[in-house]
Amino acid sequence: MEKYEYKVTAAGRVNIIGEHIDYCGGKVFPAALSLKNTVYVRENGGKNINLSWTTLTDSVSLDTESLTEYKNLRYGNYQAGSALMWKNAGHKVIGCDMLQDCSVPFGSGLSSSAAIEVSTIAALAVIAGETPDPVETALLAQKAEREYAGVNCGIMDQYASACGKKGQAMLLDCKTLQCKYVPVRMGDCELVIINTKKPHNLVVSKYNERRSETEEAFNILKDKTGIECLSELTIEQFEKYKNLLSETVRMRTEHVVKETARVRLAEQAMEKGDMVALGRLLSESHASLKNLYEVTGIELDTLAAAAEAHPACLGSRMTGAGFGGCTLSIVRKDGAEDFKKHVMKVYERTIGYAAECYDAFVADGITVEKI
Ligand code: GLA
Repeated sequence: MEKYEYKVTAAGRVNIIGEHIDYCGGKVFPAALSLKNTVYVRENGGKNINLSWTTLTDSVSLDTESLTEYKNLRYGNYQAGSALMWKNAGHKVIGCDMLQDCSVPFGSGLSSSAAIEVSTIAALAVIAGETPDPVETALLAQKAEREYAGVNCGIMDQYASACGKKGQAMLLDCKTLQCKYVPVRMGDCELVIINTKKPHNLVVSKYNERRSETEEAFNILKDKTGIECLSELTIEQFEKYKNLLSETVRMRTEHVVKETARVRLAEQAMEKGDMVALGRLLSESHASLKNLYEVTGIELDTLAAAAEAHPACLGSRMTGAGFGGCTLSIVRKDGAEDFKKHVMKVYERTIGYAAECYDAFVADGITVEKI
């Protein structure tokens, strides 16, 4: 490899629980992963950002004066959006060469896009002589995802990607951005992440649709209840006013209210190391995402059901936006190998192609190394 000045990384993430509630101001419980995007960066003396990839023969040169023009690039659009947000926030953009190396599988629900955006902004900061501020980086990365990539996402992915800590899950309050780190203590259990490998689908439009359904619920209920965001709705308020909502919006709202309650219980379970309780919450979350929020699909449901049928599994659910991507399961270590074989076999037999299992651990968010 040629010589670069810095190696900057940002993490993919797994969300343990608290799905589709970050944009409702809820608390979520993600953890940064050792699957990450690495940017090798050096100043080039010009005004362009030259991108290359370890896994592609393509290379792209982004003119830092015309960063709005790269939205339709197949590769390089996330980096362009990130650079634009960095620039618009008033920071200096220095011409540089960036070699990108992503170990977060694309379309897996493990936030490859957040890892790319966060690491690109952090690399631009480093090259401009700044120390990347993780929270600011996360917010700019989220802006890139929303305004450039067109996904009206919450803050969970970019925050976890930037601010994650090795061995710690993050109880992130998406209304206030306060974050409590909770050690991932799983005793004789481990987290197993399995990818459906479902070919890319219409996640963006369905995601944005779910988001507007929750906004509709909030607009109908806010004056009646005084809530400032939908995840503040109590179960009693939901029961009292649910008839004001259309059937679909009522289902979405029920998920938000009950998922919010599950996050509180999951925090307690993790603190006590009670994996049986945590596993049960994961399974309840999956059922709710399947039946009320309707973001799973045959691939994720097959993985989760196969997981739960195995005796070593304490609970399983989809993670991320859904419609494809990954499940995470809590599995007793002594049965984990057999568990993986079982789930992979059932999946391939039912769906017709193979799933993929990852060996990932809970790792740091942004890292910067001079090389
Ligand atoms: C995607 C979004 C997040 C969050 C999850 C669902 O990953 O980027 O903001 O909404 O879906 O929990």
